[in-house]
Amino acid sequence: MRNLKLILVGFGVRGKQWLKAVRKIKRIQLVGIVENDDKKFNDCKRVLKKGEQFFKSVECLQNIEFDCIILATPPNVHFNQIKDIVSKNIDIICEKPLTESFKSSLKLKEIVNDSNSTVIVGMNFRYLNTSKEYKTLVDSERFGPIGYSSFRYIRNRNPYRDDLNKYPIGMTQPMLLEQTIHHIDLMRYCYQSEIQDVTAQTWRVPWSSYEGDCSVSILLNFKNFHVNYIGTWTSGWNKFSFEWRTDFQNGVIIQKDQFSDLNFAQLESKLGLIGTNFKTEKDAEDLKQIKISKDKSFESDTYKYLQDYLNYKDTNTPMQTNLIDYLKSYAVIEACIESNKKRKTINLEKYYRYIY
Ligand SMILES: NC(=O)c1ccc[n+]([C@@H]2O[C@H](COP(=O)([O-])OP(=O)(O)OC[C@H]3O[C@@H](n4cnc5c(N)ncnc54)[C@H](O)[C@@H]3O)[C@@H](O)[C@H]2O)c1
Repeated sequence: MRNLKLILVGFGVRGKQWLKAVRKIKRIQLVGIVENDDKKFNDCKRVLKKGEQFFKSVECLQNIEFDCIILATPPNVHFNQIKDIVSKNIDIICEKPLTESFKSSLKLKEIVNDSNSTVIVGMNFRYLNTSKEYKTLVDSERFGPIGYSSFRYIRNRNPYRDDLNKYPIGMTQPMLLEQTIHHIDLMRYCYQSEIQDVTAQTWRVPWSSYEGDCSVSILLNFKNFHVNYIGTWTSGWNKFSFEWRTDFQNGVIIQKDQFSDLNFAQLESKLGLIGTNFKTEKDAEDLKQIKISKDKSFESDTYKYLQDYLNYKDTNTPMQTNLIDYLKSYAVIEACIESNKKRKTINLEKYYRYIY
């Protein structure tokens, strides 16, 4: 249980969330923050404590001793940053997406394999209490086999807000790479099953703040069931609309909020024969909300992710998330891009083969 020396790179939206998690863990010693935007120098200075340093780039870290580095920078710089530090025999916790293409992510994996360093791309939403509970319910098999699922994420995300990053504005596939990847990962995690093929279309809504495809529609085939997914960052209403529903032979799970509000109902088949034909929530089976302690989004999940990493360091217990597992989620994103280009269903097998 020795102390861990850590460097944080990027002091933007995500870097600030990471710093909160780091500060909560006494045995982590923050060596310093790397940030290349001069305008953020004062922000960094304000949060740095005695003895902690400020660096302008990861190249300045050559003679600095540390065990772990968190990359909370935009994805277009991850490749070079990892290349610059991989020889240091350290753990690199990199934000998703690792890079902006499957090919460059695989190349990076090779570079890392030839080094003494480790790269972890953590999908923090797995550590939410709702995700854990969703997975537990699926695992319990109390509702029988899954029939199908629908996942809806409709949000009017204005990137010009102070508390949001700006770089996705110019990305070709902002929704897929920045947001949908979390949802794909959650489905893989909660269903404990791999996606076999995808049929996807992505598009830009004409009035969007994003230059690329801010909207995504995917039909995902898991082994014995399929999922209908819609995700967008541009809407005609500022009300955020989220629902992840899974229909089983004998029941349903419905998550109504992205970080909370998890519910289930047990099917009473006899009820299908009596009462009103189109039942409202009032005459259908009770939808029961599951009591779950509420996460502070982006903070408590990040903290638990960091704890998982420390536990892995202490006990060698595999983390809930790792590079290979991340690549399986990213393969689905890449297959969606291919499906959209070719306007056809893409089998994932060839992508999975590349990962190993
Ligand atoms: N896991 C999550 O829940 C979550 C949430 C938000 C963002 N992210 C991810 O975190 C990463 C960063 O996103 P963000 O929202 O913080 O973006 P951001 O633009 O708010 O912050 C990025 C920071 O990195 C700095 N930076 C850029 N290039 C640099 C370089 N070469 N050296 C040092 N600093 C550099 C920028 O100046 C900026 O301060 C992205 O990969 C994003 O997808 C993940």
